[in-house]
Amino acid sequence: MQSAIDNTLDIQQIRNDFPVLNQQVNGRPLVYLDNAATNQKPLAVINALTQYYEGYNANIHRGIHHLAEQATAAFEASRRAVQSFLNAKHWEEIIFTYGTTDGINLVAQTYGRRFLNAGDEIIISTMEHHSNIVPWQMLCEEKGCVLRVIPVDDQGELIIEEYEKLLSERTKFVSVVHVSNSLGTINPVKTIIDKAHAVGAVVLIDGAQASSHLELDVQTLDTDFYVFSAHKLYGPTGMGVLYGKKAILDSMPPYRGGGEMIKEVSFEKTTYNDLPYKFEAGTPNIADVIAVKTALEYMDGLGKENIAVHEHDLLDYATEQLGEIGGLRIIGQASQKIGVISWVLDGIHHQDTGVILDQQGIAVRTGHHCCQPLMQRFGIAGTTRASFAVYNTRDEVDRLITGIRRVQKMML
Ligand SMILES: Cc1ncc(COP(=O)(O)O)c(C=O)c1O
Repeated sequence: MQSAIDNTLDIQQIRNDFPVLNQQVNGRPLVYLDNAATNQKPLAVINALTQYYEGYNANIHRGIHHLAEQATAAFEASRRAVQSFLNAKHWEEIIFTYGTTDGINLVAQTYGRRFLNAGDEIIISTMEHHSNIVPWQMLCEEKGCVLRVIPVDDQGELIIEEYEKLLSERTKFVSVVHVSNSLGTINPVKTIIDKAHAVGAVVLIDGAQASSHLELDVQTLDTDFYVFSAHKLYGPTGMGVLYGKKAILDSMPPYRGGGEMIKEVSFEKTTYNDLPYKFEAGTPNIADVIAVKTALEYMDGLGKENIAVHEHDLLDYATEQLGEIGGLRIIGQASQKIGVISWVLDGIHHQDTGVILDQQGIAVRTGHHCCQPLMQRFGIAGTTRASFAVYNTRDEVDRLITGIRRVQKMML
């Protein structure tokens, strides 16, 4: 069946930009529905990586030769592109990291260790990815802080009244996911941030899933930190971004010591570099950072809103079709969702579902999705999850539905 908005984006044309999609898996054309784990890379991004290595591979900042200057210029141009993508006020507020996990750990280990003390409370939520739980637990163990958790209702939405009850003068930090990777729920982060600020707490938003689906504006959100990974927005793996308000980043001690993050080193005293380099010790992922600019330009070219409309059409269609399958329960029915849909099948383990779908060339995610506490909240061990990107089609949703019916036929 054709998408209702195919006239806005030419999906078939877009699919040609993604070479990996053009293959057979287990004798069937690949249907890639694991985009929340990582999405595929367009040729433009692959070419940006190749062009760097073929044309101007050099270490950045330190060199004065032509290639080093070219690489440095491209690297810093990427920082400006990310600044504009997030609408950050200052380019120095963009720190390149290895991903969302790395960004959260950086904040926990620098801001947290410097400014949080015994008895201070850190609020997270039940729907956090493990990478937004464990770094705070580690900090709590070390510093004697207390972790508080916002509960989730049966629809998969945060219970904001419960969040309000958790907030007090003891709340020093709030770290919440913008969009749930397991359920697709879009959280009301502006409300969460404003309420945290009202009690003087600092806020980090985990934007791993939001970054390729929602318009982002860190100034309007007024968030103190925002983190995301490039590989979830059509960019390379091993590269991510930490945005932080300049005054807060300035107040934080460095994370890792090494080259690039210093001004002067002597055995008596070392002085640290200015932002953003203070947090970028060692040789970074130069090629990957450069290619992120291309990924952002690619999304811009299609229009983030067009992408969101298309993915939403797929979500609505999939929700309707899955709803017609007997014995299937959708986990997460929030009123605001991105194109992520999770379900359980009566009497069938999610792993079996994943294996039998794979036999039909359909790639989905199965398990706890690094959200074990959320799975416990719903009383399940895991789900099967389909997540959509711009290149997916209604035909692929039809393949998924046929695939699930086949799973039931084989397993029941
Ligand atoms: C919501 C969320 N937070 C954090 C992460 C961790 O991202 P990364 O593994 O790229 O560091 C993910 C990855 O799936 C995620 O979905």
